[in-house]
Amino acid sequence: MAEPSSRQDADDRRFMAAARRLSLRHVGLTAENPSVGTILVQGTGAGAEVVGRGVTALGGRPHSERVALRDAGTAARGATAYVTLEPCAHQGRTGPCANALVAAGVTRVVIGAADPDPRVNGRGIATLRGAGVDVRELFEGEDAGRPFEGFLSRLCRGRPHVTLKMAISADGAVGRLGGDRVGVSGPIANRQVHLMRAGMDAIMVGVGTAIADDPLLTCRLPGLEARSPIRIVVDPQLRLPLGARLVQTADAVPTLIATTHAADAAADPYRKAGCGLLPLEGYDADHLRAMLRFMPSVGIQTVMVEGGPALANAFLWAGQVDRIVALRSELVIGELGIPAPAGVLKPQGFRLGRSERFGTDVWTEWERNDACSPGS
Ligand SMILES: NC(=O)c1ccc[n+]([C@@H]2O[C@H](COP(=O)([O-])OP(=O)(O)OC[C@H]3O[C@@H](n4cnc5c(N)ncnc54)[C@H](OP(=O)(O)O)[C@@H]3O)[C@@H](O)[C@H]2O)c1
Repeated sequence: MAEPSSRQDADDRRFMAAARRLSLRHVGLTAENPSVGTILVQGTGAGAEVVGRGVTALGGRPHSERVALRDAGTAARGATAYVTLEPCAHQGRTGPCANALVAAGVTRVVIGAADPDPRVNGRGIATLRGAGVDVRELFEGEDAGRPFEGFLSRLCRGRPHVTLKMAISADGAVGRLGGDRVGVSGPIANRQVHLMRAGMDAIMVGVGTAIADDPLLTCRLPGLEARSPIRIVVDPQLRLPLGARLVQTADAVPTLIATTHAADAAADPYRKAGCGLLPLEGYDADHLRAMLRFMPSVGIQTVMVEGGPALANAFLWAGQVDRIVALRSELVIGELGIPAPAGVLKPQGFRLGRSERFGTDVWTEWERNDACSPGS
């Protein structure tokens, strides 16, 4: 295949970036399917015109290629399709998307990531090429796989993608012993946390945090209230008070309790209050891994662990963290400070990712060195 001209290359990168932005719209809302973006373009350079747009529909079907083809109608003939993930090649309810692109007369397809699903991997590309479509694999960019990292993690590791988020004071603490709840991070960073929650399938805390802070763990950004993910409390001994806000609001926002008593009568009051039970066999790393491996079966492909330090340490120790989000604030907590986990202050096996300032807080992301790659 000939190398694209520099003008073509610039177009490809620009429209792939637009397709990735489009795909973000339904992150967390496409069940076990990845949220994919497709843009159909006629012409090149200054004459390029977007003739169709599609993002994977709510619930995961139809796929973005079909949504974009429907949007474009006959204008799809002769167009270039920018698709953030390799088009499917397996016979689902609606037939393979690779074939739909061919049938609509799309002549060129630029693909942003390979699909590790064994039913697809390489076969979508082969179908397109076999039908004479010019295919470019543009498997680059730091964030190529980010919109569907939960899907990648489920296929590559058999568990959800795990983000560990902690707010840390200037003197290295995450809270205060015996005291009231301490707001470590400021309002601007907290809104970013709520935004991040909206894109997750689940938020998790240990029972220590649920008792100390009595949090709601919802997304409370205007317009995004309905995007609150499932809340999970790791509570092996069922210490969570029935009066806790998490239990009291379980009818409105799905709440799971991960406990060794999932099948016991001891869990009945939580069940009656509307909580679901997640089996957890014990405290060691294997039990944590088993709990995570169970989660995709209940539709959870992305989890944000929001502490506290004991649960954070357990996740780090078990090697089950894919991204660390460390929020450093200017607050000084003093001698009663609860120390932040060392693995969050100085992550080992992670590389520095995005870093931003939100108000007076510094938001730093660390990505696991052996992250699931969308390009293979
Ligand atoms: N700055 C921040 O970002 C942040 C975030 C959250 C919390 N906090 C602060 O942290 C403090 C609470 O800390 P914490 O360490 O007590 O709370 P935690 O980590 O939320 O909860 C600890 C409890 O979770 C259970 N648990 C932890 N690891 C487990 C594992 N591997 N397997 C099974 N169960 C496990 C245990 O429950 P059992 O003892 O019942 O077995 C343990 O006592 C509060 O002051 C809170 O404000 C700060």
